[in-house]
Amino acid sequence: MINSIRAGIIAAACFLINTAHAQKQLVVKANEVKATIQPTMWGIFFEDINFGADGGLYAELVKNRSFEFNMPMMGWKVVKEKEAEATTLIINRQQGDTTNPRFIRVTRNNTAGKLQLINEGFKGMGIQQNEQYHFSVLAKLHPGSDLQLHLRLLDPKGNTIAEGMIHPNNSNDWQSYKTSFTATTTEAKAVLDIAIEGKGSIDMDMISLFPEHTWKNRPGGLRADMVQLLADMHPGFIRFPGGCIVEGRDLANRYQWKKTLGDINNRKTMINRWNTEFAHRPAPDYYQSFGLGFYEYFQLAEDIGASPLPILNCGMACQFNTAEVADINQEDSYIQDALDLVEFANGDTTTKWGALRASLGHPAPFHLQMMGVGNEQWDQQYIERYRLFAKAIKSKYPSIQLINSLGPDPEGDRFTYLNDTLRKLHADVLDEHYYRSPSWFFNNAKRYDHYPRGGSKIFAGEYAAQSVTAASPLNKNNWLCALSEAAFMTGLERNADVVSMASYAPLFAHTEGWQWTPDLIWFDNLHAYATPDYYVQKLYANNRGTQTVPITLNNEVVAGQDSLYATAAIDQVTNELIIKIVNAAGREQEGSIVMEGVNKPGTKARVTILQNNNTEAINSFEGVVNIAPKEQEITIKGKTANVSLAPYSFAVLRIKM
Ligand code: AHR
Repeated sequence: MINSIRAGIIAAACFLINTAHAQKQLVVKANEVKATIQPTMWGIFFEDINFGADGGLYAELVKNRSFEFNMPMMGWKVVKEKEAEATTLIINRQQGDTTNPRFIRVTRNNTAGKLQLINEGFKGMGIQQNEQYHFSVLAKLHPGSDLQLHLRLLDPKGNTIAEGMIHPNNSNDWQSYKTSFTATTTEAKAVLDIAIEGKGSIDMDMISLFPEHTWKNRPGGLRADMVQLLADMHPGFIRFPGGCIVEGRDLANRYQWKKTLGDINNRKTMINRWNTEFAHRPAPDYYQSFGLGFYEYFQLAEDIGASPLPILNCGMACQFNTAEVADINQEDSYIQDALDLVEFANGDTTTKWGALRASLGHPAPFHLQMMGVGNEQWDQQYIERYRLFAKAIKSKYPSIQLINSLGPDPEGDRFTYLNDTLRKLHADVLDEHYYRSPSWFFNNAKRYDHYPRGGSKIFAGEYAAQSVTAASPLNKNNWLCALSEAAFMTGLERNADVVSMASYAPLFAHTEGWQWTPDLIWFDNLHAYATPDYYVQKLYANNRGTQTVPITLNNEVVAGQDSLYATAAIDQVTNELIIKIVNAAGREQEGSIVMEGVNKPGTKARVTILQNNNTEAINSFEGVVNIAPKEQEITIKGKTANVSLAPYSFAVLRIKM
């Protein structure tokens, strides 16, 4: 009878159940607090790679809205019927407008035949039925002209799924025109068709289309479904804007936060460094509009309760590319950018940059407490620049924690040199990156057990298990990778006195526009789905706990014996014990968890489980969610929970204390 009930539970829930045949004994000492887990512990790494911002999180549907791509008509098509006597011209204002110099001039000399300007969007435009869309354009109708703009959203067969009109006034000035329309159909691959009707000449710039329902319904805002996935993680921080994009392929191409603020017409569009990075994944139409700029970033972090963690260029371009550096005597402007960013985020509204923040709509400070000096830099040239940054920032803002690069690899000469030198310089936080195989992650679950306890803290700032090899286009977000990350993360949590933050990288990838795989969240024009890795991150972040406590198997930390990995924490706020266990074996494992130091544990534990018997399993758009959290409850007898750990599973138990 018991066996048949048990078999039934396995079939239904399949993961972790009570069993009478406990064999392995895990011992938790709930009253032996080891380390405080920082609220920042589990965070997010955001970079505009894989069309993560433009064409992704930033909800603008028009690609190359300001004609500033190197090829100014990229993304646009002019369709002219033969009866139409008409011309289009790209005009460059040059000195008149250095941030947005180009615009398009359309001239019609007769009214016969059609003239259309069609924008293809980012791999098409994702349009939702019954959603309202807001169109806007800056336009100047030349005197004597009588033209109107007939706007349509078309599906791939040319059917109209929404339409509207703009009637510009004759004017010698640029004017902003807006209209809204509602879509009748859902379509992932729509295009925007602007038919120019009438006779005369019109100049147009900043041709834009946004859905009404962005995140928090902010006009010109972010894609709500994508932000929701981030919010659901309850991340401790958001690292932004990267990643190599901070560095640029050369210094001219570096990320400069001051150029990303205020009126979007004045945010200078720039080529995205991932445009040309991988010959095997070319992205000629990848640019940065900076519509998701630094103000929006701080706002996003605040919205989802995450601490901001901006990473700043320190006068060094990507060392995998040009390795260009700013002259050491000309570091001042880079350092000033960092100082000004602190003032922008935290300064009161009487300061120059605090006043700017207030004028953008946020008089209250953004509570910036940390920033990164450079991204993935290495060698002596980095140390020279780090010293200058640290001196200037610490003397003005002593409480700001600086995050410092340990380079692209978690071992080797470059790593050792930076690690030794930065520790001697008492650097606050060291940023380690590991894009390694799943076996590396399993084998490194004890990596931090023997790290020095005092001194610099560790930020696992970019990591992801690579199913093939780092940056291979064949990498998959499969279950083995996610499971290995879950196992490795037990070691991060166990060493929370050393590791203060961690973030998986990269975050987003457009299914048609990616350069780098694996990624935490995949999306297309209409939807987004969470990978197994996402669920691992989410389970850690949603079950963070406040302090670590020991969990052992045969008096040793649980870091690979019998393919088991475990960590335990208490949550002083909810008065719960939180245990995370990975069974990396392809067989069910039975055991018991003995809870010492808890007077009277609850009689039930809430268990959340990720599991799949197939380590190659992935999630995907095609309605397949092979790996997603499932919840169940188990009974606890006295101070012991008997458990059976399903093959290839990650389980999180929460027990009232
Ligand atoms: O996450 C992708 C890239 O990997 C980041 O931009 C860079 O920092 C690292 O090399």
